[in-house]
Amino acid sequence: MAVETNPTALAAKPWDPAAAHGSRRERMRNALNFLPVDRPPMWLMRQAGRCLPEYRALRQKHSFRQLIRTPELAAEVTLQPVRRFGFDAAILFSDILVVPEAMGQGFRFQDGGGVQMESLVRDLSDIQKLCENGVAERLQYVAAALEMIKRDLDGRVALLGFAGSPWTLANFMLEGGSAKRFVKAGELFRRDRRAYDLLAAKLTAAVTEFLQMQIARGVDAVQIFDSLGGDLPAAEFEAASGQWMEKIVTKLNRHAPVIVYSKGTRAWDALARTGANVIGIDHGIALAEAERRLPRDTGLQGNLDPALLTAAEPATVAAETRLLLEQMRDRNGYIFNLGHGVPPQAKMENLEALAATVQNFV
Ligand code: CP3
Repeated sequence: MAVETNPTALAAKPWDPAAAHGSRRERMRNALNFLPVDRPPMWLMRQAGRCLPEYRALRQKHSFRQLIRTPELAAEVTLQPVRRFGFDAAILFSDILVVPEAMGQGFRFQDGGGVQMESLVRDLSDIQKLCENGVAERLQYVAAALEMIKRDLDGRVALLGFAGSPWTLANFMLEGGSAKRFVKAGELFRRDRRAYDLLAAKLTAAVTEFLQMQIARGVDAVQIFDSLGGDLPAAEFEAASGQWMEKIVTKLNRHAPVIVYSKGTRAWDALARTGANVIGIDHGIALAEAERRLPRDTGLQGNLDPALLTAAEPATVAAETRLLLEQMRDRNGYIFNLGHGVPPQAKMENLEALAATVQNFV
């Protein structure tokens, strides 16, 4: 399939100091490993996707499913935001729900937005039917996309892999798709711990195998999205989510740095115990406050409020970005990001202001 790619467009923009100070990949890898950097590296959750006109154009021709399952297209969409904004890292274009799908529970997108799982997982017998073995084999289209992306990035820009956390995936699987409030995973956790633990253990095995495959294909780090972690009371976080992420981090055995992003979670000790190199911080708390709660040698990632990208003016975005950079000045292990994903309605001029502010920070 012919997809227009222009590798030379990956070269740094005139105002990107990366041109003068080593590669963007090196900057990202240094921050991931808690080493000094010239300025914090930057990438944004959901940097690829509907906020970009070039993504929307491709989406006119292909379904989301085609985009993520066709390596050429997944690679192209992954690279789009890197070309446009000169980010220090690319994140694989895919979705957390490809893992449940590879275990036997498919998904599809609803016309009005949101996702729907194609079958229901309700009880122990449904959970027993899920197949966690051979997940990486069934996700070979991801391996192929990673290979193409690596070739295009050519060592200049870092590449991130990812997966959903067992708790967050369990919520989508038991709820049967998107929901205003996710309640069924919490109910199962409290009512039938044996069934919940079996599901979490199967997801832990599947996610571990999937991330190992991504690491073998050369990603520079992996992020675990525990986007629903904050739905848990702090007292339940470790048992329902934290311990499973800890098992994944332990099994990955430092073959690549791990970023744990657990949105809304304030169970700091349990977050630290996951063993993640970097903890992603949402915008519901001051970064300096999160820093005080975590061990000193923990990397931090975050946490500009994504709403600024739709509602504010570029000058405000630049000022708020600079405020975060000043707070984290001279701190090793800081990676600039939003507190959650880029909203589809984000204004291009705001993303440009953000990128330029980080890239020109001295
Ligand atoms: O960050 C990136 O740029 C990489 C790509 C990425 C997507 N989804 C693409 C996507 C990543 C990392 C995800 C993770 C993901 N997927 C999460 C966790 C992260 C978070 O935001 O908290 C979750 C909960 C999902 C599940 C999911 N995917 C839902 C509920 C939906 C439907 C709602 C929606 O936003 O449309 C998706 C769809 C989805 N995933 C899109 C994209 C670009 C939109 C697809 C389209 O219509 O083009």
